[in-house]
Amino acid sequence: MLSEMQVRQNLATSKFGRTIFEIHEQIDSTNTRTKILGTEGAPEGSIVLAEYQSAGRGRLGRAWHSPSGLNLYFSILLRPHIPIYQYPLITLAAALSLSEAIEKSTGLQPSIKWPNDLLINGKKLAGILTEMELLDPGSAYAILGIGLNVNLDRKHLPEALVESAGSLLIESGKAWPRERILAAVLNTLEKNYFTLNQGEFEEIRGRYLARCHTIGRMVTVTVGREPISGKAVDVDESGRLVIEKESDGERTAVNSGEVTLTGSSYMRRR
Ligand code: BTN
Repeated sequence: MLSEMQVRQNLATSKFGRTIFEIHEQIDSTNTRTKILGTEGAPEGSIVLAEYQSAGRGRLGRAWHSPSGLNLYFSILLRPHIPIYQYPLITLAAALSLSEAIEKSTGLQPSIKWPNDLLINGKKLAGILTEMELLDPGSAYAILGIGLNVNLDRKHLPEALVESAGSLLIESGKAWPRERILAAVLNTLEKNYFTLNQGEFEEIRGRYLARCHTIGRMVTVTVGREPISGKAVDVDESGRLVIEKESDGERTAVNSGEVTLTGSSYMRRR
C-alpha cells in the first residue's frame, strides 16, 4: 500500500493534498469519488487516490486499465478562477506538469501528444481526464484525474495494450518509489496550476509547446465525422490545437477529437 507518510515527506505544496487526502485500497473511479467531494463543498486541492480502480475511466468513453499496487491513479478537486472557456488549459498544464516532474525525478523525457497524453518512445505512459461541473458561475469546479503507469510491467498488460502502453519501469528497466513520483507531480502541478489560475497562460504555453510532439507535425484530426488534415502549428489561449490546413493553408483551431499523425516528419523537437 502506498505510504501517505512518505508522500508527505516529499510534498512541498500549500493546497494540494493538505486537507483531504483519501487513499483507497480499491474504488470504482477516483474521479467519481472526487466529484462527490466536490458537491459536498470539499476544499480545492482535495485528493483521492486508489491502489486499484474497478471502473477507471479514460477519455472518449474508454476504460483505464488500473491493476493494483503498481501505478498511480488519483484525482484532484480544483475550483479554478479562470473563465470556463479556458478550463481545457488545466489539462494542458497537467500534461506539462507530469512531463516536467517525471523528467526531474527520473531523468526520462516523456513528450506530450496534444492535448494530454504522455508518451515515451511512442508508448502511452499517462493519461489525464478532466471532468467539469459547470453549475453557476462562481461555484464551478473541475476534477483532474491522472493515471500514471509507474511499475507496470509488460506481463501486467492485456494483449490489446502490450504495443501501446508504456511505464516508467518498462522504459527504464527499474522500479520507482511511487510516493516520490506522486509528490513530485503534485509539487509541479500545484505550481503550474497557480500560474494558470493567475491568468498567466503564456508562461505555461512556451513550456508546453516545447514538450508537445504534435507541434510541427502533419496531423489528421477527426472532429465528429469530419477529418481535418494539416500541420499542427500552435495551441491557442483556450487550449485548442491550431492547424494550418493542407487544402488551403488557412488556420483552424480544433478543441477535441482524435489526433493521428500523418506524414514523415517524426523528429523529436527537444
Ligand atoms: C485517458 O484516456 O488518457 C485518460 C485516463 C485517465 C485515467 C485516470 S486514473 C485516475 C482517474 N480516475 C479515473 O477514472 N480516470 C482518471
